[in-house]
Amino acid sequence: MSISKIIGLQFRKPVGVLGKIIANLMVVGNHIFYKTMIDYLTIRSNDKILEIGYGPGIGVDMISKRFETCDIYGIDFSDLMYRRASKRNKQVIQNNRVHLLLGDFIDTEINMGLFDKIFCINVVYFWDDLHKPFSRVISLLRDDGIFCLYMEKNDDLNKVKLTKNDIFNKYSIEQISKALKAVGFKEVDFFFKKGYFIKAKK
Ligand SMILES: C[S@@+](CC[C@H](N)C(=O)[O-])C[C@H]1O[C@@H](n2cnc3c(N)ncnc32)[C@H](O)[C@@H]1O
Repeated sequence: MSISKIIGLQFRKPVGVLGKIIANLMVVGNHIFYKTMIDYLTIRSNDKILEIGYGPGIGVDMISKRFETCDIYGIDFSDLMYRRASKRNKQVIQNNRVHLLLGDFIDTEINMGLFDKIFCINVVYFWDDLHKPFSRVISLLRDDGIFCLYMEKNDDLNKVKLTKNDIFNKYSIEQISKALKAVGFKEVDFFFKKGYFIKAKK
């Protein structure tokens, strides 16, 4: 297997020593995307929020610090990320403000009622079929709930050796908008800042 594929697989599901290095890169590199995403989510006090693919847990940490009355949930299927994010958010987990799950978003049972906001950053590339995850997202949102996602532009991903391979699905903005509308989202908006920030309203 090529080095780029080995590293690509680590971005999909970090494990072991290499996964720890990749997790450290995510902490440094993705902070800026979380900052923009958190503003874009228009979070209100008491919102119930779910992050899919929380990775090392920096987004959950940032939200819990800025919005002290929100109820924050996260799901990630990497055991390493679960441990990292749990360590980073230890205090707020103990205080019952943050709830981290370990499991695949596609098929893990999530019975926590409906969410006001659901979001994910750099996760959509790893979904080979968009219908299943997007259907799941809309079913977990309350009416008027919001789903936001961030992804890099497909042309940019195709230029980089690391993401050129078949581990990364390189969706166009049109494919994402169409798939969101197909599962029932009423409105889809987006803006571009290093990549696409996309917002879908139920
Ligand atoms: C590229 S990392 C991004 C992590 C974090 N969102 C960030 O931007 O720093 C993708 C994360 O999504 C998780 N992930 C990918 N597919 C998933 C799925 N189907 N269910 C749960 N977690 C998933 C991986 O374990 C990994 O932690």
